[in-house]
Amino acid sequence: MLKVEGLSKEFRNGRGKSAKSVYAVKNLSFQCKPGEIYGLLGPNGAGKTTTLRCLSTLIKPTAGNAFIDQYNVIEHGQIFRSKIGFLTSDMKLDGYFTPDYMMNWFGKLNKMEDDVINQRKEKLFNDLQMMDFIHKKIDKLSTGMKQKTAVAISLIHDPDVIIFDEPTNGLDIVTSKAVTDFLISRAKAGKIVIISTHNMTIAEKLCHRFGILVKGELKEEGTLSEIIEGSNWGNLEDVFFSYILPGGDHV
Ligand SMILES: Nc1ncnc2c1ncn2[C@@H]1O[C@H](COP(=O)(O)OP(=O)(O)O)[C@@H](O)[C@H]1O
Ligand SMILES: [Mg+2]
Repeated sequence: MLKVEGLSKEFRNGRGKSAKSVYAVKNLSFQCKPGEIYGLLGPNGAGKTTTLRCLSTLIKPTAGNAFIDQYNVIEHGQIFRSKIGFLTSDMKLDGYFTPDYMMNWFGKLNKMEDDVINQRKEKLFNDLQMMDFIHKKIDKLSTGMKQKTAVAISLIHDPDVIIFDEPTNGLDIVTSKAVTDFLISRAKAGKIVIISTHNMTIAEKLCHRFGILVKGELKEEGTLSEIIEGSNWGNLEDVFFSYILPGGDHV
Protein backbone atom coordinates (compact mmCIF):
# COMPACT_ATOMS: atom_id res chain seq x y z
CA MET A 1 0.00 0.00 0.00
CA LEU A 2 1.21 3.51 -0.81
CA LYS A 3 -0.17 6.21 1.48
CA VAL A 4 0.34 9.92 1.04
CA GLU A 5 -0.48 11.96 4.15
CA GLY A 6 -0.73 15.73 4.23
CA LEU A 7 1.99 16.23 1.64
CA SER A 8 2.98 19.86 1.01
CA LYS A 9 5.80 21.41 -0.95
CA GLU A 10 6.78 25.05 -0.74
CA PHE A 11 9.18 26.61 -3.22
CA ARG A 12 10.89 29.90 -2.44
CA ASN A 13 11.75 32.00 -5.43
CA GLY A 14 14.32 34.73 -4.86
CA ARG A 15 16.33 35.52 -1.75
CA GLY A 16 15.97 37.25 1.60
CA LYS A 17 12.96 39.42 2.33
CA SER A 18 11.90 39.67 -1.30
CA ALA A 19 11.66 35.84 -1.60
CA LYS A 20 8.27 34.74 -2.77
CA SER A 21 6.78 31.56 -1.40
CA VAL A 22 4.78 29.27 -3.70
CA TYR A 23 2.99 26.23 -2.38
CA ALA A 24 3.13 23.89 -5.38
CA VAL A 25 1.33 21.19 -3.39
CA LYS A 26 -0.86 21.72 -0.33
CA ASN A 27 -1.85 19.07 2.19
CA LEU A 28 -2.33 16.20 -0.24
CA SER A 29 -3.62 12.83 1.00
CA PHE A 30 -4.44 9.73 -1.02
CA GLN A 31 -3.77 6.00 -1.13
CA CYS A 32 -3.07 3.39 -3.78
CA LYS A 33 -3.32 -0.35 -3.23
CA PRO A 34 -1.40 -3.12 -5.03
CA GLY A 35 -3.28 -3.91 -8.25
CA GLU A 36 -4.62 -0.37 -8.58
CA ILE A 37 -3.78 2.41 -11.01
CA TYR A 38 -4.13 5.88 -9.48
CA GLY A 39 -4.55 8.87 -11.80
CA LEU A 40 -3.35 12.28 -10.65
CA LEU A 41 -5.17 14.69 -12.94
CA GLY A 42 -4.64 18.38 -13.32
CA PRO A 43 -3.86 21.21 -15.72
CA ASN A 44 -0.33 22.52 -16.24
CA GLY A 45 1.10 23.95 -13.05
CA ALA A 46 -1.34 22.04 -10.81
CA GLY A 47 1.49 20.36 -8.89
CA LYS A 48 1.47 16.87 -10.44
CA THR A 49 5.20 16.68 -11.16
CA THR A 50 6.06 18.18 -7.76
CA THR A 51 3.93 15.53 -6.02
CA LEU A 52 5.50 12.69 -7.99
CA ARG A 53 9.02 14.07 -7.42
CA CYS A 54 8.35 14.10 -3.67
CA LEU A 55 7.18 10.47 -3.84
CA SER A 56 10.27 9.54 -5.83
CA THR A 57 12.59 11.05 -3.18
CA LEU A 58 14.02 13.57 -5.68
CA ILE A 59 12.79 16.48 -3.56
CA LYS A 60 11.87 16.69 0.13
CA PRO A 61 8.31 17.56 1.12
CA THR A 62 7.97 20.72 3.23
CA ALA A 63 5.36 18.94 5.34
CA GLY A 64 3.57 15.62 5.40
CA ASN A 65 4.90 12.21 4.53
CA ALA A 66 4.42 9.21 2.23
CA PHE A 67 4.52 5.56 3.20
CA ILE A 68 5.13 2.30 1.37
CA ASP A 69 4.20 -0.38 3.89
CA GLN A 70 6.38 0.35 6.96
CA TYR A 71 8.77 2.70 5.18
CA ASN A 72 8.40 6.45 4.84
CA VAL A 73 9.96 8.89 2.45
CA ILE A 74 11.38 11.21 5.16
CA GLU A 75 13.23 8.63 7.25
CA HIS A 76 13.86 5.75 4.84
CA GLY A 77 14.67 7.61 1.63
CA GLN A 78 17.04 5.01 0.23
CA ILE A 79 14.80 1.97 0.83
CA PHE A 80 11.77 3.96 -0.33
CA ARG A 81 13.60 4.91 -3.52
CA SER A 82 14.58 1.29 -4.23
CA LYS A 83 10.89 0.34 -4.21
CA ILE A 84 9.97 2.91 -6.85
CA GLY A 85 10.32 3.09 -10.61
CA PHE A 86 10.01 6.73 -11.64
CA LEU A 87 9.48 7.94 -15.19
CA THR A 88 9.78 11.69 -15.69
CA SER A 89 8.78 13.68 -18.72
CA ASP A 90 12.25 15.25 -18.84
CA MET A 91 14.32 12.07 -18.70
CA LYS A 92 17.30 12.57 -21.01
CA LEU A 93 18.75 9.46 -22.63
CA ASP A 94 22.25 9.61 -24.03
CA GLY A 95 21.77 9.30 -27.80
CA TYR A 96 25.10 7.59 -28.39
CA PHE A 97 24.12 4.40 -26.55
CA THR A 98 21.63 1.63 -27.34
CA PRO A 99 18.62 0.59 -25.22
CA ASP A 100 20.35 -2.72 -24.51
CA TYR A 101 23.49 -0.96 -23.27
CA MET A 102 21.51 1.50 -21.13
CA MET A 103 19.61 -1.35 -19.47
CA ASN A 104 22.90 -3.07 -18.56
CA TRP A 105 24.24 0.19 -17.19
CA PHE A 106 21.17 0.96 -15.05
CA GLY A 107 20.99 -2.69 -13.94
CA LYS A 108 24.58 -2.47 -12.64
CA LEU A 109 23.81 0.88 -11.02
CA ASN A 110 21.06 -0.96 -9.12
CA LYS A 111 23.64 -3.60 -8.09
CA MET A 112 21.83 -6.34 -10.02
CA GLU A 113 23.58 -9.57 -11.06
CA ASP A 114 24.15 -10.10 -14.80
CA ASP A 115 21.74 -13.03 -15.10
CA VAL A 116 19.00 -11.05 -13.30
CA ILE A 117 19.61 -8.09 -15.62
CA ASN A 118 19.31 -10.41 -18.62
CA GLN A 119 16.02 -11.88 -17.37
CA ARG A 120 14.59 -8.40 -16.75
CA LYS A 121 15.73 -7.18 -20.16
CA GLU A 122 14.10 -10.08 -21.92
CA LYS A 123 10.82 -9.58 -20.09
CA LEU A 124 10.68 -5.80 -20.53
CA PHE A 125 11.88 -5.82 -24.15
CA ASN A 126 9.21 -8.40 -25.01
CA ASP A 127 6.40 -6.83 -22.99
CA LEU A 128 7.08 -3.43 -24.54
CA GLN A 129 7.71 -4.84 -28.03
CA MET A 130 11.19 -3.36 -28.26
CA MET A 131 13.15 -6.24 -29.81
CA ASP A 132 13.51 -4.56 -33.24
CA PHE A 133 15.48 -1.62 -31.91
CA ILE A 134 17.36 -2.61 -28.76
CA HIS A 135 20.72 -2.51 -30.57
CA LYS A 136 20.12 0.80 -32.36
CA LYS A 137 21.59 4.05 -31.08
CA ILE A 138 19.01 6.03 -29.11
CA ASP A 139 19.72 9.05 -31.38
CA LYS A 140 18.18 7.11 -34.25
CA LEU A 141 14.98 6.09 -32.46
CA SER A 142 11.50 7.60 -32.81
CA THR A 143 9.83 9.43 -29.90
CA GLY A 144 7.76 6.34 -29.12
CA MET A 145 10.81 4.05 -29.14
CA LYS A 146 12.66 6.44 -26.84
CA GLN A 147 9.70 6.50 -24.46
CA LYS A 148 9.56 2.69 -24.37
CA THR A 149 13.30 2.71 -23.61
CA ALA A 150 12.75 5.18 -20.76
CA VAL A 151 9.90 3.01 -19.42
CA ALA A 152 12.09 -0.12 -19.51
CA ILE A 153 15.01 1.63 -17.78
CA SER A 154 12.80 3.00 -15.03
CA LEU A 155 11.60 -0.54 -14.23
CA ILE A 156 14.86 -2.51 -14.59
CA HIS A 157 14.91 -3.23 -10.82
CA ASP A 158 11.32 -4.59 -10.82
CA PRO A 159 9.96 -2.08 -8.28
CA ASP A 160 6.71 -2.61 -6.33
CA VAL A 161 5.60 0.95 -7.04
CA ILE A 162 5.47 2.44 -10.55
CA ILE A 163 5.28 6.24 -10.74
CA PHE A 164 4.96 7.64 -14.24
CA ASP A 165 4.69 11.38 -14.87
CA GLU A 166 2.65 11.98 -18.06
CA PRO A 167 3.69 8.64 -19.60
CA THR A 168 1.70 9.04 -22.83
CA ASN A 169 2.41 12.72 -23.49
CA GLY A 170 3.42 13.35 -27.09
CA LEU A 171 3.10 9.70 -28.13
CA ASP A 172 1.25 8.42 -31.19
CA ILE A 173 -1.84 6.34 -30.39
CA VAL A 174 -0.13 3.01 -31.07
CA THR A 175 2.74 3.65 -28.65
CA SER A 176 0.36 5.26 -26.18
CA LYS A 177 -1.72 2.08 -26.18
CA ALA A 178 1.40 -0.08 -25.79
CA VAL A 179 2.38 1.94 -22.70
CA THR A 180 -1.12 1.94 -21.15
CA ASP A 181 -1.61 -1.80 -21.86
CA PHE A 182 1.73 -2.41 -20.21
CA LEU A 183 0.67 -0.43 -17.11
CA ILE A 184 -2.58 -2.41 -16.92
CA SER A 185 -0.60 -5.67 -17.04
CA ARG A 186 1.72 -4.42 -14.26
CA ALA A 187 -1.25 -3.51 -12.04
CA LYS A 188 -2.76 -6.96 -12.72
CA ALA A 189 0.56 -8.42 -11.56
CA GLY A 190 0.00 -6.69 -8.20
CA LYS A 191 2.05 -3.52 -8.61
CA ILE A 192 1.03 -0.13 -7.27
CA VAL A 193 0.78 2.25 -10.25
CA ILE A 194 0.49 6.04 -10.10
CA ILE A 195 0.36 8.18 -13.21
CA SER A 196 -0.20 11.84 -13.86
CA THR A 197 -2.01 13.02 -16.95
CA HIS A 198 -4.21 15.76 -18.32
CA ASN A 199 -5.78 13.35 -20.78
CA MET A 200 -9.17 12.46 -19.30
CA THR A 201 -9.98 9.81 -21.91
CA ILE A 202 -6.83 7.85 -21.09
CA ALA A 203 -7.36 8.37 -17.36
CA GLU A 204 -10.94 7.14 -17.45
CA LYS A 205 -9.93 3.97 -19.32
CA LEU A 206 -6.84 3.25 -17.28
CA CYS A 207 -7.28 4.31 -13.67
CA HIS A 208 -9.21 2.78 -10.76
CA ARG A 209 -9.00 5.87 -8.58
CA PHE A 210 -8.43 9.54 -9.31
CA GLY A 211 -7.30 12.73 -7.69
CA ILE A 212 -8.16 16.03 -9.36
CA LEU A 213 -5.41 18.50 -8.51
CA VAL A 214 -5.97 22.23 -9.05
CA LYS A 215 -3.43 24.86 -7.92
CA GLY A 216 -1.79 22.37 -5.60
CA GLU A 217 -4.99 21.21 -3.89
CA LEU A 218 -6.75 17.90 -4.29
CA LYS A 219 -10.31 18.94 -5.16
CA GLU A 220 -11.72 15.47 -5.78
CA GLU A 221 -10.52 12.05 -4.72
CA GLY A 222 -11.97 8.60 -5.28
CA THR A 223 -13.30 6.16 -7.85
CA LEU A 224 -15.01 7.39 -11.01
CA SER A 225 -18.48 6.68 -9.62
CA GLU A 226 -17.68 8.36 -6.28
CA ILE A 227 -16.49 11.50 -8.08
CA ILE A 228 -19.38 11.60 -10.55
CA GLU A 229 -22.07 10.87 -7.95
CA GLY A 230 -21.04 13.88 -5.89
CA SER A 231 -21.16 16.21 -8.90
CA ASN A 232 -23.65 17.64 -11.40
CA TRP A 233 -21.80 15.90 -14.23
CA GLY A 234 -21.80 12.58 -16.04
CA ASN A 235 -18.14 12.12 -16.82
CA LEU A 236 -14.68 12.86 -15.49
CA GLU A 237 -13.84 15.47 -18.10
CA ASP A 238 -16.85 17.63 -17.20
CA VAL A 239 -16.09 17.36 -13.48
CA PHE A 240 -12.49 18.33 -14.26
CA PHE A 241 -13.54 21.36 -16.29
CA SER A 242 -15.98 22.48 -13.60
CA TYR A 243 -12.87 23.29 -11.51
CA ILE A 244 -11.01 25.01 -14.29
CA LEU A 245 -13.17 26.83 -16.81
CA PRO A 246 -14.52 30.31 -16.05
CA GLY A 247 -18.11 29.95 -14.88
CA GLY A 248 -17.58 26.35 -13.75
CA ASP A 249 -19.38 25.13 -10.60
CA HIS A 250 -16.26 25.45 -8.47
CA VAL A 251 -14.39 28.36 -10.07
N1 LIG B 1 11.85 23.97 -8.60
C1 LIG B 1 10.85 24.85 -8.54
N2 LIG B 1 11.03 26.09 -8.05
C2 LIG B 1 10.03 26.96 -7.95
N3 LIG B 1 8.76 26.72 -8.33
C3 LIG B 1 8.49 25.49 -8.85
C4 LIG B 1 9.52 24.49 -8.98
N4 LIG B 1 8.96 23.38 -9.51
C5 LIG B 1 7.66 23.67 -9.72
N5 LIG B 1 7.38 24.92 -9.30
C6 LIG B 1 6.04 25.58 -9.35
O1 LIG B 1 5.13 24.71 -8.73
C7 LIG B 1 3.87 24.70 -9.42
C8 LIG B 1 3.51 23.29 -9.82
O2 LIG B 1 4.39 22.83 -10.83
P1 LIG B 1 4.39 21.32 -11.35
O3 LIG B 1 4.45 20.42 -10.18
O4 LIG B 1 5.46 21.20 -12.38
O5 LIG B 1 2.95 21.21 -12.03
P2 LIG B 1 2.39 20.17 -13.13
O6 LIG B 1 3.33 19.01 -13.21
O7 LIG B 1 1.03 19.80 -12.64
O8 LIG B 1 2.31 20.94 -14.42
C9 LIG B 1 4.03 25.67 -10.57
O9 LIG B 1 3.53 26.90 -10.17
C10 LIG B 1 5.54 25.73 -10.77
O10 LIG B 1 5.91 26.96 -11.31
MG1 LIG C 1 4.30 18.17 -14.83
